[in-house]
Amino acid sequence: MSDAIPDELHRYAESFTSQESDFLQKINRETNTQVPQANMLSGHLQGRFLSMISRMVKPVSILEIGTFVGYSALCLAEGLQEGGVLHTIDKNDELIERCKRYFHEAGMDNKINLHNGDALDIIPTLSGPFDLVFIDADKPNYAAYFDLIIDKVRQGGIIMADNVLFHGETLLLGDKQSNNAKAISAFNRKIAADQRIDKVMLTIRDGLFFMMKK
Ligand SMILES: C[S@@+](CC[C@H](N)C(=O)[O-])C[C@H]1O[C@@H](n2cnc3c(N)ncnc32)[C@H](O)[C@@H]1O
Repeated sequence: MSDAIPDELHRYAESFTSQESDFLQKINRETNTQVPQANMLSGHLQGRFLSMISRMVKPVSILEIGTFVGYSALCLAEGLQEGGVLHTIDKNDELIERCKRYFHEAGMDNKINLHNGDALDIIPTLSGPFDLVFIDADKPNYAAYFDLIIDKVRQGGIIMADNVLFHGETLLLGDKQSNNAKAISAFNRKIAADQRIDKVMLTIRDGLFFMMKK
């Protein structure tokens, strides 16, 4: 299944959006030709959105859960304050060297701290407070990630969670949903009910939950 927003509308929105840098374009291109499941990469439109949000927040500390090839990490890192750090976590050993190379080539390896392992084990070792968190790893653990990070996010801090429309599968009845869609639907209900955060579900790409801690 493709993303929730029709391809034509997505491309239309992209065509009116600031360009990716040449370097991000190179990562996008190489990922599409060299890496399985390249559609996991945030891409031009969402990447520019993540960058803009980060430049508005001007974070000192960012946490990303789900690095993949490092595309979204580099977009989010664009807004870091001088001396700020982005922690990003991925358990896929095969992509670590590629990520390190991209972070080095981008001149960002002193600002990005790449953690290789299971996010459920690594998040408790990180102290925060975080100004910005991006949840973009395995869907069944979204709720657990939220519970692990919420007390580490500062008041007024931003939390974003990707794929919350889950290719439109969130509209299906429970017994017709995949396990990932069921997990996302449960996560969405949990977020809607949580009074500690303000939230807006954005219909960008595959759905991006945008939250602010009160
Ligand atoms: C959708 S991709 C991330 C895409 C990236 N944020 C971007 O926008 O370019 C999800 C990543 O989460 C990682 N992942 C899945 N389960 C994980 C876990 N339990 N701990 C850490 N990483 C995990 C996968 O290896 C995969 O690279």
